[in-house]
Amino acid sequence: MKIRCQSCMQEYEADKAEGSFCTLCGFKQGTPPKEAYHLHPGILLQNRYYLGTVVAYGGFGIIYRAWDEMMKVVVAIKEYFPAVYVNRNPGEQQILVYSGKKQGEFQAGLKSFLAEARNTAKFSQYENIVKVFDYFEANGTGYMVMEYMTGRTLKQYLKQQGGRLPWDMTVQIGASVMDILKVVHEAGILHRDISPDNIMLCDDGRVKLFDFGAARFSDLEAEKMRTIILKIGYAPPEQYRSKSIQGPWTDIYALGATMYRCITGKVPPESVNRQEAVFRKEGDPLKRPSEFAPEIPAFLDTALMRSMALEPELRFRTAPEFKDAVLNKKRIADVEQLLKKKRRNRALGIAAAALAVTAALSGVFIHYRKMYRIAHLAPTTIRVLISEDVPGEKDIYREMSEEFMQNYPDVSVEINAVSPEEYEEELKKNLGKGDGAVSLFESGTAGELPEMEEIDPKALYGDSPAEEFLISGENKVHKVPLGFEVPVLYENTGDAAGEAGGENQPEAFLRGEAKRAVFSSTRYHEVQEALPGVYAVSEAGAGNKAEKLHARGLEFFSVNRNASELDRAAAERLLSYWMGEKAQDILHVRYHRALPVRKTQLAELLNLTPELKFLDGFTPEQLCDEDQKSFDRFCAEYYGET
Ligand SMILES: Nc1ncnc2c1ncn2[C@@H]1O[C@H](COP(=O)(O)OP(=O)(O)O)[C@@H](O)[C@H]1O
Ligand SMILES: [Mg+2]
Repeated sequence: MKIRCQSCMQEYEADKAEGSFCTLCGFKQGTPPKEAYHLHPGILLQNRYYLGTVVAYGGFGIIYRAWDEMMKVVVAIKEYFPAVYVNRNPGEQQILVYSGKKQGEFQAGLKSFLAEARNTAKFSQYENIVKVFDYFEANGTGYMVMEYMTGRTLKQYLKQQGGRLPWDMTVQIGASVMDILKVVHEAGILHRDISPDNIMLCDDGRVKLFDFGAARFSDLEAEKMRTIILKIGYAPPEQYRSKSIQGPWTDIYALGATMYRCITGKVPPESVNRQEAVFRKEGDPLKRPSEFAPEIPAFLDTALMRSMALEPELRFRTAPEFKDAVLNKKRIADVEQLLKKKRRNRALGIAAAALAVTAALSGVFIHYRKMYRIAHLAPTTIRVLISEDVPGEKDIYREMSEEFMQNYPDVSVEINAVSPEEYEEELKKNLGKGDGAVSLFESGTAGELPEMEEIDPKALYGDSPAEEFLISGENKVHKVPLGFEVPVLYENTGDAAGEAGGENQPEAFLRGEAKRAVFSSTRYHEVQEALPGVYAVSEAGAGNKAEKLHARGLEFFSVNRNASELDRAAAERLLSYWMGEKAQDILHVRYHRALPVRKTQLAELLNLTPELKFLDGFTPEQLCDEDQKSFDRFCAEYYGET
């Protein structure tokens, strides 16, 4: 009789199935799988797919070879099997999902998995992307049926070739992937996991892209829940930050890194380590490909360095641009050159501002001429101390300092973070020191201290007009807020909500137990997450004539009076960058720390969160007074007063 082999999927003659050996590949039918939790060969899925052996398995899934009884072809079936959430008893088919929080995470992951299948299937007419024929749920999890690609992954091929490939061959493979990325990106999709193990060199000579498991589709809901998988050396910095802006340039970095790996035989250093080293003025540890492979042409060396620039704006915008560069169809500038130009432009901008100043001798302008006439800062290290209320805050401040660091290559910024409990003690220890003193520190948690230098807010406006800021320059201050908050009336519009008590209870509200509550605008995103679709927000105090919108400054910083004059000047300049567009965008629009003290960013934030539109055109009275009590009292007594 004819037997279909469970491994090579070909037919051979034998008088029994179970226990016989395939005369083509030697596989003994019914051999148990490698891992007890893998499905046994011989199982029929959906009454159609005759399951074979396991091709590969990792932390998220298992790939089986299978025979499609209906279409009569060999297929690859990917089973969603995230080992951290699930298990399977040996010999059984049904999976077991661990209890508790993992249930929800598994379900969310399953949804993304099926979305991956659905979206990859969209490219089925395209020859260079793995074809997805079918997907379904069974055994408590999800399955994706794909064409079976015969060939080897670029990773396997590299290994066979001793770890390196000739540059011209790498360019050929890279250019094929760029063509594929063009199609993918134009469909509004990012692959986000380009690396040698997700590129297949098929036996028919085609290069194919697969494993869209990390891809971001325009489905925002799925995006929120998707586990972020990062491949060290290939993932650009923006993939490490959940709210950073990703785009075609994200895949371009990873493809550049893949080509770098092929040509040099080395996996590039991890992008965030590169960034950290640049930040510490130690220089980028990424060596040029030509250092390992001197034979490569200069245009390729330049193109690869551009594709792997840490700053997304210095990379190629689109895959075809990258392709033109690696094929030497268009001359491109070197990344070092561009960085230099960027610094120079910045200096020119400052000079132009100084010129404008002389022309328009208004009070405000005179002020910043004084400040910006010297565009140069003496080499030093700015030591910053922050109280880290949320994990990762240190990294936010680092990111906010990047622009400053680029413009002042001789000045380093060292961000030190301690927990709020230890903050005051640590601050006291560091303020008095002469050498090595902290020159800029977070002052929100401390009262007013004699060490706080008096600052003229106007000196912080940089080359932006004073009207751009919500911090008025009328009085000198000891503490400068980088953000602010206002009280917001949150209402639960769902049926299930209980009645609000007489006092304000944000926590009960977030649990869905209170009808209304008044608390800070900074918690808007918590509300959005806790009560999706069933909340309304409005201005607390609207219609209450006696009250105007209370605003309170947040993220206060002060300059240490004991620091040297040079260090104080540098600290003040850094503070002015933190009030700049880029840093305000990072701090508030991207990381939702508070409301921006800059109007353009406030407008941007209101565009993204239309419910807070009532803040449009809002000008707070005085943000620099840290009027803690009046704000809290207002929130707490809100119901009593209305
Ligand atoms: N359609 C397919 N045809 C043949 N082999 C495949 C197919 N899909 C995946 N594989 C093999 O399985 C491995 C893992 O698949 P992949 O989709 O990249 O999963 P993971 O998410 O675990 O990286 C691949 O490196 C490849 O060797
Ligand atoms: Mg993979």
